[in-house]
Amino acid sequence: MQSAGDLWTRGYARLGTLLDRAECEYIRSLYEQPEVFRSRIDMARYRFGRGEYQYFSYPLPERIDRLRHELYNHLVPLAVEWMDALKLPTEYPPQLDAFLKQCHAAAQPRPTPLLLRYRRDDYNCLHQDLYGDIVFPFQVVTCLSRPGGEFTGGELLLVEQQPRAQSVGHALRLEQGESVVVTTRYRPVKGSRGYYRTNFRHGVSPLLSGERFTLGLIFHDAA
Ligand SMILES: [Fe+2]
Repeated sequence: MQSAGDLWTRGYARLGTLLDRAECEYIRSLYEQPEVFRSRIDMARYRFGRGEYQYFSYPLPERIDRLRHELYNHLVPLAVEWMDALKLPTEYPPQLDAFLKQCHAAAQPRPTPLLLRYRRDDYNCLHQDLYGDIVFPFQVVTCLSRPGGEFTGGELLLVEQQPRAQSVGHALRLEQGESVVVTTRYRPVKGSRGYYRTNFRHGVSPLLSGERFTLGLIFHDAA
């Protein structure tokens, strides 16, 4: 898989521009259509940061559903390799629909794809998107706004916490339509006695100006 090397060594990989400008503008326009979402979260209220996001309801908008399926197909072989390396007993079927069935049978029925909206001074604290026992090891972030032209600041942040060492930070500026796959919580690192895990959290640095929309694709569903 292209990008597998970067995921192994850094815990994230750039996937290139997966959505064109019209698709980005269409998806972000959905933000004002409450009927396509199941809930709206005010981040300040939960002390998750500042700004807001909404979780889509099922059925997902067609373009988002297709992207989620394509990305799952692309990522699932590596997910299996990672869990094998970490000796974590997990099953990831080759098709997203079968994986979602597992989630739903394990009391994780609610869709997790989300649309985030940041305005000036908004930010997202470092966190992990875990919603139950079933976790897919990767998730994909796609920027829907133009950096520079539509917003400044608002970099995607990734922090890798290494055992018995200080943390490493990555700051990623995403172009409009550009997607990045990030590890949901761990990265396997080869040590002298097999693989060990480093722990990852991600967030967004404060917006300095403008408005930034992001599409978050998480593959496991939520309790
Ligand atoms: Fe997140």
